[in-house]
Amino acid sequence: MSPVKRSSILSFIFPKAYLVRYVVDTIRRFYNLMVQSATKIKMKLPVKLGIGSSVLFVFIVLVGFVVFPKMITSKIKSMVNLKPGTEIRDMFLKIPFGLEFRVYIFNVTNPMEVQRGQAPSLKEVGPFCYEEWKEKVDVQDMEGDDTILYNAKDTFIQVMWPGCLSGTEVVTIPHPMILGMVNTVVIQKPGALTLVNKAIKSIYSNPASIFLTAKANDILFDGVIINCDVKDFAGKAICSQLKEAPTLRHVSENELAFALLAPKNATPGKRIKAARGVNNFKDVGRILEYDGVDKIDVWPTDECNAIRGTDGTIFPPLLSEEEGLVSFAPDLCRSLVAEFQQKTKYDGIPVRKYSATLGDMSKNEDEKCYCPTPETCLKKGIMDLYKCIGVPIYVSLPHFYETHESYLKGVKGLRPDKSKHEIIILFEGMTGGPVYAKKRLQFNMPLQANPKVDIFNNFTESVLPIFWVEEGVELNNTFTKPLKDLFKIQKIVKITTWTVLLGSLLGLSAAGYLFFKESGTADITPVHKVHPSDSRKTISTVSGNNLEGIDNHAMTKTDTD
Ligand SMILES: *[C@@H]1O[C@H](CO)[C@@H](O)[C@H](O)[C@H]1NC(C)=O
Ligand SMILES: *[C@@H]1O[C@H](CO)[C@@H](O)[C@H](O)[C@H]1NC(C)=O
Ligand SMILES: *[C@@H]1O[C@H](CO)[C@@H](O)[C@H](O)[C@H]1NC(C)=O
Repeated sequence: MSPVKRSSILSFIFPKAYLVRYVVDTIRRFYNLMVQSATKIKMKLPVKLGIGSSVLFVFIVLVGFVVFPKMITSKIKSMVNLKPGTEIRDMFLKIPFGLEFRVYIFNVTNPMEVQRGQAPSLKEVGPFCYEEWKEKVDVQDMEGDDTILYNAKDTFIQVMWPGCLSGTEVVTIPHPMILGMVNTVVIQKPGALTLVNKAIKSIYSNPASIFLTAKANDILFDGVIINCDVKDFAGKAICSQLKEAPTLRHVSENELAFALLAPKNATPGKRIKAARGVNNFKDVGRILEYDGVDKIDVWPTDECNAIRGTDGTIFPPLLSEEEGLVSFAPDLCRSLVAEFQQKTKYDGIPVRKYSATLGDMSKNEDEKCYCPTPETCLKKGIMDLYKCIGVPIYVSLPHFYETHESYLKGVKGLRPDKSKHEIIILFEGMTGGPVYAKKRLQFNMPLQANPKVDIFNNFTESVLPIFWVEEGVELNNTFTKPLKDLFKIQKIVKITTWTVLLGSLLGLSAAGYLFFKESGTADITPVHKVHPSDSRKTISTVSGNNLEGIDNHAMTKTDTD
């Protein structure tokens, strides 16, 4: 078995060209049988031809439009599940290639002007590139209820594809720890702001701004040091809290390291229970429980707390276009629905294009639950993660694409662009396989003036983008070949069906014509005089040639496989 075959999701779905050959052979045998028996009973040619063609017609309609499609769907239904031993499961448990993960950081080029109240000027720096290896660990099957338990783990490895930056570039971003802490305390405990003001001065050595200037690598994964070797009461109080934070790495007794993406790297997520889809293929991969509960407790309504969809690495086959692709994003504490946009092609395969946005909590009733408070909703396309992760981080599409224009106007240097910034999934609907995907998300922090914290005195309110990420999959020929083969075979069957159908109709017409011609003449014309073999040959030659062609093709296919 070639590696191509083993690693493909679909090579096993389709019972190969032998099926085509079988269908073709049966048609041929059937036709011969008809012709023979017709000859035996010494029927007249038009009658023979008529019966033969009708039988062929019924047969091909049955096989081409009922039996064959049914065979494919039942095969897909039975194969797309997470039972041990299936290829889909292997793929689900460890994606056999690294996803393309790219990060772009917004360099603030006018930090001191921002301190004085000017709008931030941003310059996108990137991409910083990583291979993202996705796997599931501590996998446990529950045979009885057809479920699987696992923890998802993503591991990032820095790579230098063409166009990628090394990560040694120095950038300036709002210090996520300073801005995040002040924003959180404003919500949770505004009375403590005076203490926080003192602590910032102590821990960050009396900073002139909220901005952090560091190497991209340190900001993203390696860690920016927070010095907790402080003696004053405020500094100690805040540091003792920071030391408890699970997302900060302890470098030494009094040094903590903070990095934007490090907490996610190679760290198993919360336990997930998902359906295996053996009993019902529509359920495959559907998340039933997250962290031991069947619905989260983050938002005010049941609808928004519901866990819907899969983890996004697998989708059920045979989805209708209207259903959309539903996946649960633990990082956002919500399910997202990618909606069908249009039919398109990927590498010659007919696929559907889906796209997702973050909705509009200010307008859509069913998204009101994401509003920070019932009175204060964010505008279109942006979502506050405070209730989800305990820090007011706002997510949006990159460059505020499909986001309310007021956010775009609050900062300088962004240029939303559909092709670069939308969320897009190209999806093969029959087998439920994504063939191409770019999942993109931008992380922002709200910036607002605060009289109690000195370095926050003069800010003009805005939502400040910090970085955005793109998780990309582009299946190459190794992985799309089985899909292509599937469609090739389908096409062949379709062409055969229509050709035979047409042939049988031609046969019927010829029979009708001959029948009326004969009954018009008084004496019975001997069969051979109207060149019976001609009209019969027309049919058998047309189909015969075709059948030969397919037969050969099918043989070659099997050989190459
Ligand atoms: C970020 O902006 C600062 C200030 O304009 C500049 O000095 C620095 O070179 C920029 N960094 C990159 C990587 O472009
Ligand atoms: C804020 O603006 C006031 C008045 O212009 C100025 O005195 C003060 O130094 C500014 N504060 C900061 C932190 O820039
Ligand atoms: C496709 O990608 C896989 C995994 O990255 C690789 O092993 C394989 O060689 C690639 N195939 C082609 C045809 O490029």
